[in-house]
Amino acid sequence: MDLLDTIRTRRSLRAFQDEPISRQTLHEVLAYASNAPSAMNLQPWEVHVVLGEERKRLSHRLLQSYRERLITCGPGSMTPLPDRFIDRAKQCSEGMRPLVRRMGTDFKTYINEGSLDFYGAPAAILVFLDECFPLERMTDIGSFLAF
Ligand SMILES: Cc1cc2nc3c(=O)[nH]c(=O)nc-3n(C[C@H](O)[C@H](O)[C@H](O)COP(=O)(O)O)c2cc1C
Repeated sequence: MDLLDTIRTRRSLRAFQDEPISRQTLHEVLAYASNAPSAMNLQPWEVHVVLGEERKRLSHRLLQSYRERLITCGPGSMTPLPDRFIDRAKQCSEGMRPLVRRMGTDFKTYINEGSLDFYGAPAAILVFLDECFPLERMTDIGSFLAF
């Protein structure tokens, strides 16, 4: 598969096999991502990899906080969004709704609880930006994630 095909067929996955992922594979993935461009080549990303039981413990704590405080995984908009964005969000949720129903849950629970459980992935890669950087450097974090 060439690069253009890879870009064209890329999808967000929300189902993973419950098999451990090797440290070598994780190192390789992160080495590729480290080729991402960043302002002044600062490479401001800080990466934490969480595996196995620790990953499950983290999800457990996140789910507990979500259920107690109903912090959602929404896109973070504090003000009402213009219609064209609302329409896109609706399209996205409507597309997933039949599958979600087949899994015996509702869209909101699936997205919020699924996200906090990393959809069952055996490894979670958490990427942080040190607070010494301004929020603009989130663009560098975005390019790291995209790579
Ligand atoms: C910054 C960002 C945050 C996202 N957050 C979530 C999330 O919390 N839960 C989720 O299931 N998908 C999340 N997604 C995936 C988007 O829903 C997905 O990219 C979008 O629906 C387009 O689908 P596609 O990636 O399969 O093309 C996120 C994507 C991005 C770029």
